[in-house]
Amino acid sequence: MSAEPALAHRAALRAQFPILAQRINGQSLVYLDNAATTQMPLAVLDATRQFETTTRANIHRGVHTLSQRATDAFEAARTSVKRFVGAGEEHELVFTSGTTEALNLVAQGLSHGLDGRAGAIGPGDEIIVSGLEHHANLVPWQQAARRSGATLRILLPDAQGQLHEDALARLLSPRSRVFALTACANASGERSPYEALLALAQEAGALTVLDAAQAVSHSAMQLDTLACDFMAFSAHKMYGPMGIGALVGRRAALERLTPVRFGGDMVQSVSYQGAVFAELPARLEGGTPNVTGAVGMAAAASFIESIGQHALETHLADLRQRAVRGLQQIDGITVLSAQTPVSAIVSFVVQGVHPHDIGTLLDARGIAVRTGHHCAQPLLDHLGTGPTTRASLAIYNTLDEVERLLSGVSHAIGVLR
Ligand SMILES: Cc1ncc(COP(=O)(O)O)c(C=O)c1O
Repeated sequence: MSAEPALAHRAALRAQFPILAQRINGQSLVYLDNAATTQMPLAVLDATRQFETTTRANIHRGVHTLSQRATDAFEAARTSVKRFVGAGEEHELVFTSGTTEALNLVAQGLSHGLDGRAGAIGPGDEIIVSGLEHHANLVPWQQAARRSGATLRILLPDAQGQLHEDALARLLSPRSRVFALTACANASGERSPYEALLALAQEAGALTVLDAAQAVSHSAMQLDTLACDFMAFSAHKMYGPMGIGALVGRRAALERLTPVRFGGDMVQSVSYQGAVFAELPARLEGGTPNVTGAVGMAAAASFIESIGQHALETHLADLRQRAVRGLQQIDGITVLSAQTPVSAIVSFVVQGVHPHDIGTLLDARGIAVRTGHHCAQPLLDHLGTGPTTRASLAIYNTLDEVERLLSGVSHAIGVLR
């Protein structure tokens, strides 16, 4: 699909997203906050409604037919989402409430002990985290380091916000236990060279953790070709429901995680004094999961596959290029990571104007963007930009909407300067 697909095709696609057909502050909505949450197509809404109206029951522990059907739907969703990210025989998928929970599961699972045995990370070990990360892939590692006595090291980006292999090579040591990295920085839009960085870290003996929250909606993530032990992502950033996400990883790596949610469904047998824990993936999925969410997540994965990640990336790259060029022509604007390949995020600062004021004036014109630190304060401090205005794109956005963003930003600057 090019940036401006045939009108009939575009209209059919937009019709899949009824929420977009509304006016905000008297203007037709231009939704450019997709890095925070994408909207859901009818295909996803229908799949969740279908489950709720025909199959809803608790899973795994019922002999009755509905419970078995619900279990089948949950496990079919697991299979679909695994296929979507190219998980192979050696991989397993654990459903979580989202990327944050998935990353906490890894950081806590490696640093907590179990039944009197120490966790996988201990005193003197090193955890390397990239400097591009969302707080969800930094704060859990800060806590894991404090809990275990390990040292936290940061792979800092250069002044343009780019990460480099030689910088990682200098940080890696025989004590490196973990390397955690984002595929795309949510605050700057930088697409990291994660394939090469993960390979380098894995070669050095570290467990590798990839935050795919900002990539999985448009890039074909092929886990079986990546040197990746754990990958985390959220359904609500890939046209799916909120409150559901996944941790996919190599079985051998997932088996090293201490469960952090103890209770029903994650045990094989229990006495008053102790418990034998279940095998993966149940071992890491204590309690009743978000079954409807999993069904919706699988439907969202199918929706993306039906469009094709290549077509998605082409569409988003065209829109981003127009947005970046247009913004760069406005006096006093700096676009972060302007040159990065394959990103859906356009983050920018305007000299002398606070992003919050730009966001408010854009909202008055029906244009939804996000402003602030985007839960990545250390990165924006390091780059020296402070808070930014972030427009983020999705399959349903159009060139016309990008033009409305550009004229909205020009108008806001005219008012605010
Ligand atoms: C790169 C990245 N990682 C993690 C998260 C956290 O995702 P969630 O809030 O769905 O857990 C986000 C959300 O914006 C993100 O952009």
